[in-house]
Amino acid sequence: MAFLGVVGAAPVEELQKRNTFTISQVESTKFVRNGPASIVKTFRKYGKAPPAALIMAAAASPNGTVSATPLDAYDTEYVSQIDVGGTTMNMVLDTGSADLWVFSSLQPSSQTSGHNIYKADSSKKVSGATWEIVYGDGSEASGAVYSDKVVVGGMTATSQAVEAATSVSSQLQVEKAIDGIFGLAFSSISSVEPNKVKTFFDNVKPSLAFPLFAVTLKYHAPGTYDFGFIDKSKYTGNITYVDVNTTQGAWEFTASGYAVGSGSTTTTNINAVIDTGATLLYLPTAVVKAYYAKVPKAQVSRTEGGYIFPCSTTLPDFTVIIGGSKQVVPGKYINYAPTKTDPTTCFGGIQKVGDIGVSIFGDIFLKSKYVIHEAGSGTPRLGFAQQVGV
Ligand SMILES: *[C@@H]1O[C@H](CO)[C@@H](O)[C@H](O)[C@H]1NC(C)=O
Ligand SMILES: *[C@@H]1O[C@H](CO)[C@@H](O)[C@H](O)[C@H]1NC(C)=O
Ligand SMILES: *[C@@H]1O[C@H](CO)[C@@H](O)[C@H](O)[C@H]1NC(C)=O
Repeated sequence: MAFLGVVGAAPVEELQKRNTFTISQVESTKFVRNGPASIVKTFRKYGKAPPAALIMAAAASPNGTVSATPLDAYDTEYVSQIDVGGTTMNMVLDTGSADLWVFSSLQPSSQTSGHNIYKADSSKKVSGATWEIVYGDGSEASGAVYSDKVVVGGMTATSQAVEAATSVSSQLQVEKAIDGIFGLAFSSISSVEPNKVKTFFDNVKPSLAFPLFAVTLKYHAPGTYDFGFIDKSKYTGNITYVDVNTTQGAWEFTASGYAVGSGSTTTTNINAVIDTGATLLYLPTAVVKAYYAKVPKAQVSRTEGGYIFPCSTTLPDFTVIIGGSKQVVPGKYINYAPTKTDPTTCFGGIQKVGDIGVSIFGDIFLKSKYVIHEAGSGTPRLGFAQQVGV
């Protein structure tokens, strides 16, 4: 959602995405879910047999699994249900930031209408601690800090720093389906002052079977975050690991090249971060140009703020070379959504990263992958594998 330096320089569509939810859209998709068991329920609700993988995860997780459900028809954001101090909150699990903040009883009621709120109990207040976050679209939130119990997919952190909002800007207020953000980047970029606080992952890590979490965001369907274990039923082929550069507190790594469709591989270093809170896949200009050169009638639209093409276009796959392995994003996944001005024109899921200097591998990339985030005693690393059924 907010990758540090990205603030103030996020590409236009990322800026616009916050405004794409209307209240009615949000209300109609305000799901209430809790772990694999409820994903199974969801599949039943839609008359589909639950995938065997989910049943296995529900029955056999050595640690915890929480579902991540798309908020709209375009997977603009995914929300998960988290128990924060006894209240169930709908939160975005965000590997691009490290704060766990929630709508709270400290805000004026005019700001919290339609949201679940964390009930701030003064006996749990962390004296003198404050926080403030500004996102790429200028939206912001700030407040005080409490130490409280947080439960995610059956895993509990008893003394988790909960950043309770005292004020949240209007762009965030209108997203009724999101009651807060749950940061999964490194604790070093916590915005809490004067002392940084640990993320939920850092707090529960010592008690996890393995010091990792694995993300399975899905195309137009609920996915999962697995904590403490790798679910072999969710990926196919080998897992390829690369070291993470934690200097900026992000899940940052270097890819070594790319290919468009069945074309040959171009070798070039792509410095990138994994960011579940970002909707699209943002890449260097040369890479983006090379991709859309293979998309008939693709063009840059000033009004839309990025590459567009006729919705009927068949898009080529996009392959990123990571640790020597080919990580393929199916062309279909790169059609993000019809534009608001013309429903026959679609906005691309791959866009230029611009001046940010580091590529952002958001949901468009992640939806076809099983991505392991490991932070044990050695250098943290990311593991990539192709999702089953992609
Ligand atoms: C995770 O699983 C391990 C081994 O099964 C167990 O000892 C540990 O308590 C679990 N941790 C959490 C946070 O549930
Ligand atoms: C997985 O790795 C093994 C050992 O390195 C290799 O022999 C095999 O071909 C790989 N499989 C795939 C699907 O890439
Ligand atoms: C890690 O990232 C920092 C800042 O982004 C950069 O200066 C440094 O060279 C990187 N280190 C490695 C080993 O790539």
